[in-house]
Amino acid sequence: ALLSPGAQPLAGKHALVTAGPTHEPIDPVRYIANRSSGKQGYAIAAALAVLGARVTLVSGPVGLPDPRGVTVVRVESAREMLAACEAALPADIAVMAAAVADWRVAREATQKLKKTPGAAAPTLEMALNPDILATLSHHASRPGLVVGFAAETEAVVEHATAKRLRKGCDWIVANDVSGDVMGGDRNTIHLVTAAGVEDWPELPKAAVAERLAARIAGAVAPPPPG
Ligand code: CTP
Ligand code: CA
Repeated sequence: ALLSPGAQPLAGKHALVTAGPTHEPIDPVRYIANRSSGKQGYAIAAALAVLGARVTLVSGPVGLPDPRGVTVVRVESAREMLAACEAALPADIAVMAAAVADWRVAREATQKLKKTPGAAAPTLEMALNPDILATLSHHASRPGLVVGFAAETEAVVEHATAKRLRKGCDWIVANDVSGDVMGGDRNTIHLVTAAGVEDWPELPKAAVAERLAARIAGAVAPPPPG
């Protein structure tokens, strides 16, 4: 169903969105990160706000302006992102678009690591980060609709379908990243739900966001019958 312009079907709903990369500190001046631009998550936060939702955007370090009408909570590490998400609950909708670092450095150095002449390069021991999507999916205050992302380079729908079940979320927005899309402005999406798979055409990230927001509105705020 098409929404009429200016309709606010998500009025009164709280949506929690994550976006961007996380930075995992090595020492006070170094970190491990990934190539997420944050563009898709920011566009989704903006699109949900346009439909009337109160939106909390928990964002890793990105160079993007705050979307209009959205409350932005800025974090660096995965553990800070999880804490900010839990602090933002309760929410009706959660959309986890962040590219969370799977691992962090096990012991962050409190002083800058120094080169010692003749000494070997340091070896970094890694520790598994908390899974924010899985944690929210099994939370005592679980949002009514939990949406995860999956960036895949092969067997996109198979991997995304397995991920949906493993994480316990309701939908997976599977993003085909086999081309050169990291940091780009377009995405090819397969929406994986309990009912099956919807294949979307290649779209600009803003159009993906609008389509997902409308789909979310249809699921959590169905139009009254008649
Ligand atoms: N995610 C998360 N917390 C993590 C890792 C991932 O919340 N520590 C979320 C992402 O925001 C995304 C979804 O889980 O919504 C899938 O992330 P992805 O990296 O594709 O899945 P992983 O389970 O980490 O599997 P892998 O990277 O091995 O494919
Ligand atoms: Ca991962």
